[in-house]
Amino acid sequence: MLTPLGFSLLRQLSDGAFHSGEDLAATVGLTRARVSQLLKQAETAGLALERVRGRGYRLLATPDFLDPEEVRKALRKLGVQVAAADAKAPLLPAANDDDLALPLGAPPIEPHPAISVEVTDQVDSTSSELLRRAARRDIHGALLAAEWQTAGRGRRGRVWTAVAGGSLTFSLGWRFEQGAGFVAGLSLAVGVAVIHALEAEGLPGVELKWPNDLIHRHLKVGGILVELNGDALGPSTVVVGVGLNVRLPTAMKRDIPQPVSDLTAVAGRGAPPIDRNRLLARLAAELAASLSTYAQHGFAPFAAEWQRRHAYQGKPVKLLLPDGASVKGTVAGVDSTGALVLADGPRRARFLAGEISLRRA
Ligand code: BTN
Repeated sequence: MLTPLGFSLLRQLSDGAFHSGEDLAATVGLTRARVSQLLKQAETAGLALERVRGRGYRLLATPDFLDPEEVRKALRKLGVQVAAADAKAPLLPAANDDDLALPLGAPPIEPHPAISVEVTDQVDSTSSELLRRAARRDIHGALLAAEWQTAGRGRRGRVWTAVAGGSLTFSLGWRFEQGAGFVAGLSLAVGVAVIHALEAEGLPGVELKWPNDLIHRHLKVGGILVELNGDALGPSTVVVGVGLNVRLPTAMKRDIPQPVSDLTAVAGRGAPPIDRNRLLARLAAELAASLSTYAQHGFAPFAAEWQRRHAYQGKPVKLLLPDGASVKGTVAGVDSTGALVLADGPRRARFLAGEISLRRA
């Protein structure tokens, strides 16, 4: 587990130069032995360190750590309204009950709220954290990114693996007037928004795999997890979680139990390194715009593009069902709720994302 002190050491090492154990120890006020211990933990976060006698430590691949101010600046450049760094989200009525000075009733749902940007070194999961906060505070427009998730979650109860400094793991909170049925297709709309953001940052060629994997040449480069808090009739609070592999060490790619790639491979040889702050800002801007559109019109404006971007549109596939059975067919498209429509001769069948997994047939 990386501690805040471990992160402050990594930030010093992020220039790629050698730093002696003595210098590092002096800046954090610890012994050299403790520094060495803390840096060993960096390896658990996927960072490769070199130690050379007489010269000290250096990071082999230098991460550009996320900087919330850089993200805010980039968002403003994109014309997005950004909340002040120290702005506090309003308490929700349930948390206000004993505070008569505050007005009752949830804050009105703005179509496009100012985005509040927060970057944390470490958290169990950015989505779990926003869901916890949602019980007390309004998380409409709250963007939370983490360098390192200790319990990152993927779809279908899977673990989401990332590397500190080499991934983007973030969540965005949003409120909708409508309920669960209305937001059923939201995770697919998010996929389209992420692809737009990647293209705008010079990363073309990423496709979708139903329901919301982001793939490049059939290898997974990212995933989306949309979670909902609320009842069937609404309003509902949604947490959109996005994980992207920006630059994964080869050893980590081998350890992940499915074929994966990263955005550095998408960019291609000789491309400049990916600026994670700018990419995060672009993603937040595209997501905010798409979530506002979705709030007004639902999935309909995204459906045709989603199908165009689907790597398996019109192709033969196999669906693995939760009971272990599988269904074969040709992908006819998605319906207005984001369900996959599979054709088998003249027959059509709809499948809801849930626990289903799609494979190439
Ligand atoms: C998947 O493809 O299985 C979805 C992966 C979603 C991962 C992101 S990373 C940020 C957010 N926090 C989490 O714990 N999960 C999502």
